[in-house]
Amino acid sequence: MNIISQKSNGLKGTVTIPADKSISHRSAMFSALTGGVCEIQNYSLGADCISTLNIVKELGCEVEFIGEKHLRIDAKNAFKKDRYKLDCGNSGTSMRLFAGIMASYEAESTLFGDASLSKRPMKRVILPLELMGAKFKHNDYKAPLIIQGGELFPIDYKTPIASAQVKSCILLAGLNTVGETKITEPYVSRDHTERMLKYLGADIVTDCNVTKIKKSKLTPKNFKICGDISSAAFFMVAAAIVPNSEIIIKNVGLNPTRTGIVEVMQQMGADIQILDSHTECNEQVGDIRIKSSELKAITIEGEIIPRLIDELPVIAVLATQAAGTTIVKDAQDLRNKESDRIKCLVTELRKIGVQIEESPDGFVIEGKQNLKGDAGLECYHDHRLAMSLYVAGLICEKSVCINEFQWVDISFPEFLPLMQTLT
Ligand code: S3P
Repeated sequence: MNIISQKSNGLKGTVTIPADKSISHRSAMFSALTGGVCEIQNYSLGADCISTLNIVKELGCEVEFIGEKHLRIDAKNAFKKDRYKLDCGNSGTSMRLFAGIMASYEAESTLFGDASLSKRPMKRVILPLELMGAKFKHNDYKAPLIIQGGELFPIDYKTPIASAQVKSCILLAGLNTVGETKITEPYVSRDHTERMLKYLGADIVTDCNVTKIKKSKLTPKNFKICGDISSAAFFMVAAAIVPNSEIIIKNVGLNPTRTGIVEVMQQMGADIQILDSHTECNEQVGDIRIKSSELKAITIEGEIIPRLIDELPVIAVLATQAAGTTIVKDAQDLRNKESDRIKCLVTELRKIGVQIEESPDGFVIEGKQNLKGDAGLECYHDHRLAMSLYVAGLICEKSVCINEFQWVDISFPEFLPLMQTLT
């Protein structure tokens, strides 16, 4: 599906952002681990979270939709087979977290995915799981991964990258391993796994960038999932850069390990207010009001990078409208996402007239720039690139056409209809 994005005269109104992808994945996975019955309200209907749900079914759970986004998972018959074939689709979170789960169960599991997922690095989870005693077959550390699971040993592991997927993989293996498993990250990454495992009664302790877990039994509970700040980010940036905009985004997850985007936008001078902040299922949630304003450039580097890693493509679009030099560094892992997000972003933004310089671990943008548009753009099968380019189209002099826009369905099938309610 090719779609057109064109200059907007101002975004106005209120939108409710659909469920957080990271939290949805975990709610379904951990429901399966409870061995009981859990209900999940407001589950993400993005293709990635549906991949996780299909895996949960394959593992023996009964999964029933009792409302449009309201699920019931009965896990009493889970983990009874000797062999599993688990299709992770396009979802890195499914593959890396299920690798940790399946490594500690007495079964042979094959984890596979689509062409993009089969190219993504899995060494980061294979190495620590092998240290715990798991046996893998793989093709140069890429999917498909065949895991011979069984009893594991606890490890004290220092990971070289701040990655919630790596941390969660090790914690999930540790959850079913006698002794204390410890992981230290260079910087704090998103902590939804830790919060949700605590909510379900696991013996898990976090002190800054160090997390320890002991073998625990989880208690079945119900979940209510908040909106995804990574999806909200496209609306936040759009409202900040399209003149005459003022919008409210309802029900957004405001976990501090995810709010790097809010901090960066505030530092750049965006007019943002947080309203009605409260806690639900051990996660902070609130509404965000945002108006268009003058923006200034900043440098984005170091500890904040894992707290806004998925928002960097749309931050590049934001930076085109900020006066001065915006520098993004320490973000080399952007090259290992659904696409090489540095290279692909630079290539596509240049087509619409953006002056942007690529660096090994980020990019540099001089603002404020006029964007000419008038181009056909590729999204490289990458949902976040597709939505970032759509937001760029809202400030281009002439319209842009984005090819294969259906890739947004991976995380945010409601993106276009929601955006259209504001324009
Ligand atoms: C995720 C962690 C991040 C993020 C991804 C979702 C998660 O990946 O980019 O979209 O749910 O744990 P990394 O852990 O590889 O940084």
